[in-house]
Amino acid sequence: MAARPGIRLLVIDDNPGILELMATALAQPDIEIFTATDPHEGLRLAGETHPHIVLTDLMMPGISGLEVLDRILAMDPSTDVILMTAHYSTETAVEAIKKGATDYLNKPISIAAIREKIRGLVDALKQRQKSLNLENELLAHAEFEGIIGNSPMMWDMFSRVRRVAPHYRSVLVTGGTGTGKDLVARALHRLSPAVQGRLVVLNCSAVVETLFESELFGHARGAFTGANADKPGLVEHADGGTLFLDEIGDMPLSTQAKLLRVLQNQEVQRVGSLSVRKVDIRVIAATHRDLRAAIEEKAFREDLYYRLAMVEIHVPRLAERLGDLPLLTRHFVARFNSLYGRELRGVTRRAEILMATHSWPGNVRELENVIGHAAMLAAGEWIDVQDLPPYMLTKERKPGEQAQADQGSSLGTIEEHERALVMSALANAGGNQSKAARELRIGRDALRYKMKKYGLDDVASATTAG
Ligand SMILES: Nc1ncnc2c1ncn2[C@@H]1O[C@H](COP(=O)(O)OP(=O)(O)O)[C@@H](O)[C@H]1O
Ligand SMILES: [Mg+2]
Repeated sequence: MAARPGIRLLVIDDNPGILELMATALAQPDIEIFTATDPHEGLRLAGETHPHIVLTDLMMPGISGLEVLDRILAMDPSTDVILMTAHYSTETAVEAIKKGATDYLNKPISIAAIREKIRGLVDALKQRQKSLNLENELLAHAEFEGIIGNSPMMWDMFSRVRRVAPHYRSVLVTGGTGTGKDLVARALHRLSPAVQGRLVVLNCSAVVETLFESELFGHARGAFTGANADKPGLVEHADGGTLFLDEIGDMPLSTQAKLLRVLQNQEVQRVGSLSVRKVDIRVIAATHRDLRAAIEEKAFREDLYYRLAMVEIHVPRLAERLGDLPLLTRHFVARFNSLYGRELRGVTRRAEILMATHSWPGNVRELENVIGHAAMLAAGEWIDVQDLPPYMLTKERKPGEQAQADQGSSLGTIEEHERALVMSALANAGGNQSKAARELRIGRDALRYKMKKYGLDDVASATTAG
């Protein structure tokens, strides 16, 4: 998409008089206005110019405004679409809002009212553009050794890693699966004096128990069947560097005892050999398990635990730091854009809201998968609700929320729902505000405030008049 300055507004109406009126009334230095009398031409223009705001007539020959709304939102769900009609009906208005329209206006349209409405939208858009720029800037600063985070918990963790890295001999990294323990281990190594040495990784959950010790400590020729030659283990391989023992909770007890000796004495004995070799290694152990519980169950050695846990770095779950969600999302969108050669601009507001209410049991890895999956699926330039995995949409809800759950992917923002509720209450009450307020179980002042907030002042008078 070619970058154009300011806000782009597209007006579609089969009546050229209206187009001219709008173009004159809404002319502003920061607004670029496009017009089309033919809705198909309008849709083509929308595809070409990527308008921020679309004003469209509801009744046009060939294609209805509601279908124009659908097609525009399919191209870019973040577009503000305003429908205009001379044939006002509350049902259509509610349908339009549910489909994602920003507003629904009754013709004849007052110039002052439309000017104010567009001004409001333009201000909101500029605010959002500003905060997007800000987020980009934040992304550059909210990163530590490739670990993204801008929440107090992560700042704490970064500072702990920074302070521990120059000094540790052994360290325990704890946290749920997918929280980023691997990244933390790598950061610890990179910031340690052993940075010139190797980082040797052993995933303890992937090693056959019988091969564990020869893998880790090496073996002498003839130590067991198949040991045809002397072979150094990973400990020796990591000499002068760092040994990263991932999922240490899966290490057999007998091996744990020997590992503790290596840590205490900085020397290693190959399986089947009598001689010991001096090594100089740092050890990072990581686990998603509760090692204290494992100690209770006699599955983990208490002495090894205390040796390792002298320094513990805990990586918080994603659900505990949802403030990191927007930055992480942007980070992954950018990554999958370059991986898949796409130009996704981000996640729509309603998808963002859904993501913020998810519990993320799989933490950052789950988010990475969700965005990767969505980046393949997304039809337009934005990741929307339907691109998220189905399990995120079908959450358990309280009985009262069931009606909304049944609408599946048409889940809108809280504002959209509130606006639709206010509109239907006003319609049911025949425009009588006291009655509508009673139905909504809010005060009249609260109702007036909401009507103003959602630009429903006109609706009420229109309903009263009709
Ligand atoms: N804070 C973060 N910033 C950027 N990427 C992250 C972050 N945390 C995790 N990731 C990514 O999420 C995935 C899972 O992280 P990983 O370190 O393997 O988790 P763990 O080892 O705790 O199971 C990896 O692809 C990793 O790069
Ligand atoms: Mg890991």
